[in-house]
Amino acid sequence: MNTLILGATGGIGQALARALAGRVERLWLSGRNAPKLGELARSLGAEAVPAELGSGLEVASLAQEVGPLDLLIYAAGAAHKASLREESQDGLEHLFTANLGGCFLALKYLAFNPGARVALLGVYPDFVTVPGLGAYAATKLGAEALLQTARKEFRREGVRFTLVRLLAVATGLWAPLGGPPKTALPPEAAAERILQGLLAEPPPEVWEVR
Ligand SMILES: NC(=O)c1ccc[n+]([C@@H]2O[C@H](COP(=O)([O-])OP(=O)(O)OC[C@H]3O[C@@H](n4cnc5c(N)ncnc54)[C@H](OP(=O)(O)O)[C@@H]3O)[C@@H](O)[C@H]2O)c1
Repeated sequence: MNTLILGATGGIGQALARALAGRVERLWLSGRNAPKLGELARSLGAEAVPAELGSGLEVASLAQEVGPLDLLIYAAGAAHKASLREESQDGLEHLFTANLGGCFLALKYLAFNPGARVALLGVYPDFVTVPGLGAYAATKLGAEALLQTARKEFRREGVRFTLVRLLAVATGLWAPLGGPPKTALPPEAAAERILQGLLAEPPPEVWEVR
């Protein structure tokens, strides 16, 4: 399986990389933090392909390097808290790129083998459409809409899409929100649950990890 994890330097991305290492023929890991990514890839016998997901050029060149994929996991993302009145344009753009724009560019440029699986790490709408999370909610739910469209557009290519709904996982994503809740899953447990769904035959359209 030619496999790419976008957001591999993140809490869930790293746990997924560790869980997939040795289980897939070729594992490509991408993130922005090149030194951290290089060290992770070396330790797992994987290949590091750093990229800024806000850059079409970088995503297009990443796509050239990794070639047609059998498994893509979109585990990039960002969150912060700001009311609609307080949200800055920079803040909105940051969340837009990490949660939605990068996903758009990945689907625009990456190539897939027939039968490929694509997973997006998503949310439970009721938990994010709350005061202070407007930009996070809008960008995460926008990515969900993108995935639903991609499912139809890529049907002829035989690509299968899974939306993974996650409740709370203890990662750095929560740092700007004051830290994860006590009930948050450890990233390793979340990664195992995610892969259970994603590697099932056929892969489910929606997979819930609570
Ligand atoms: N943690 C949770 O409770 C939870 C719940 C529901 C859904 N999710 C979703 O799960 C996914 C992973 O979350 P996480 O908790 O693992 O987050 P995380 O630890 O904060 O990791 C985020 C990852 O996204 C990458 N990233 C952010 N902006 C980027 C950009 N512009 N270009 C390239 N890479 C970028 C980061 O790369 P660098 O570090 O290299 O910059 C990092 O690898 C996100 O989509 C999140 O919305 C998480």
